[in-house]
Amino acid sequence: QKKMILDLDTGIDDALALAYAVGAPDVDLIGIISSYGNTVIETAAQNSLDLLHLLGADDVPVFIGESHSSTTDHFDVMPISQLIHGKNGIGEVVLETAPRAVETQSGVDFLIAAAHQYADDLIFIPTGPLTNLATAIKKDPTVATLIGNTTLMGGALTVPGNVTPFTEANIHQDPEDADYAFTHQKNLTMVGLDVTLRTLLTKKETAAWRALNTAAGNKFAELMDFYIDAYANLGIDKKGAALHDPLAVAVGIDPSYVTTLPLAMHVTFDQKSGDYGRTIGDKDKLLEPTTSKVAVLVDTNRFVSDFQTLMLSVLDN
Ligand code: BDR
Ligand code: CA
Repeated sequence: QKKMILDLDTGIDDALALAYAVGAPDVDLIGIISSYGNTVIETAAQNSLDLLHLLGADDVPVFIGESHSSTTDHFDVMPISQLIHGKNGIGEVVLETAPRAVETQSGVDFLIAAAHQYADDLIFIPTGPLTNLATAIKKDPTVATLIGNTTLMGGALTVPGNVTPFTEANIHQDPEDADYAFTHQKNLTMVGLDVTLRTLLTKKETAAWRALNTAAGNKFAELMDFYIDAYANLGIDKKGAALHDPLAVAVGIDPSYVTTLPLAMHVTFDQKSGDYGRTIGDKDKLLEPTTSKVAVLVDTNRFVSDFQTLMLSVLDN
């Protein structure tokens, strides 16, 4: 069975990715590395611990990764992130505190060790900034070729972005390390914003979670409804909210949910042009062989329906 590691800045759609990975029958979730983005890293890590506890998965270890980008010495949560995910990252929902703490090994060292141990059998899913991945490759360059499958949520091949007209939040947090990861990591698949925005979940689905009458069903419905309301209030979408991060998990397990192009990507750094952090298909490498793939289409109906089926089973405990 394939092994999966998630790298989460645990906000609401990260929480859905976590639940999806816990419930997915075809993979063994061996750890969660924490990142910063939707919240500061300490809150992200605690959210992951508490969500795992809620789901009865206290055996999945949680690690602390890098707390800010390598070009800054500090991270502040963007106001827009707090509007979408709440001040605590999970829509102000209060969860029972998990009866355990994070691991002492660093997230970066855990990823390096797992890359050596599982190699081709390892699926790595970053759904926050790519700081942990880039830091791991810089520390041990063999990581770039060892990990069998890296499928990330981030970037936008076609505009608009969700932070600036050109940039998506995960890449915007740390463009330098994102570029490093894009240009070094082999077997990388990008699931960008232009694709994930086509996968919406509505209050019809969360009503079914609530109807399970379980603690997990109620809490997940509560946090997802916060996210759906935020999408409506901010004018992003009136009906539903995007399944960004769980789509990356699903594609990591079953690539046939999306259609991809073989495309080398890089990330821009020009602060003045307003596209700092933009992901761009590298035209100079267009005809060269690449192991990178960029998702451009998604089978929306099949994914949303499979997502809902899996959530109904994982929340029913
Ligand atoms: C991405 O940024 C975060 O806010 C979400 O969790 C998702 O990973 C969407 O741009
Ligand atoms: Ca995320």
